[in-house]
Amino acid sequence: MDARTEAKRAAAEKAAEYVHDGMIVGLGTGSTAYWVIQKLGERMKNGLKIKAVATSNQSELLAKELEIPFVPLSEIGEIDLTIDGADEVDDEWNLIKGGGGALLREKIIATASKELIIIADESKVVKKLGQFPLPVEIVQFGYELTLCKLASYGCITHLRMQEEERFITDNGNYIVDCAFGQIERASDLHAALNMIPGVVENGLFINLATKVIIGANDGSIKEL
Ligand code: 5RP
Repeated sequence: MDARTEAKRAAAEKAAEYVHDGMIVGLGTGSTAYWVIQKLGERMKNGLKIKAVATSNQSELLAKELEIPFVPLSEIGEIDLTIDGADEVDDEWNLIKGGGGALLREKIIATASKELIIIADESKVVKKLGQFPLPVEIVQFGYELTLCKLASYGCITHLRMQEEERFITDNGNYIVDCAFGQIERASDLHAALNMIPGVVENGLFINLATKVIIGANDGSIKEL
């Protein structure tokens, strides 16, 4: 395992320590969240009792393979704790998410969670958000027009592709990766982008994280 993967795993396993019996746990998406799901699967074999909700079909599939039980969203009011990755984390714990295309479900689950622990390797920590192109989920209808509107906010838009096909989210939508370079007022941009007809949600997560755990390539872990 390379140092970066080890750093992701270390942060994930630290975060999994915050999971206790009886909790409803939100499972994130991506290569860092993968390690949380693995760890929780292992702990459940040793007696941990939790119920889960997932932020993507991919994470749900993995958790079901590990025999982690699920609770329907219709049966819960709140989620005790969600653990998820991020593409960028700034000083104020604002995030860019959606590199894996799961940002809409991730935001729904994060917003319904009492606690949101973000786990990442140190390459994700930035002074200012925006170096990572901001993923935006948009409906398919009129997507060319939505791309123009997004570009009018000062970014270069790129409709996400996968194996020469347009990438389709779990919700049947497209993802546009918006290269801003640097985002000055993340909260204002977040609100403005979500006002564009055709935009379902954007990957800025403002004031949602309640803890950030960073794994460093030298093997150490930092809880922010
Ligand atoms: C998926 C996400 C992921 O959390 C984010 O892309 C980080 O992924 P990884 O842990 O693989 O670096 O937002 O939509």
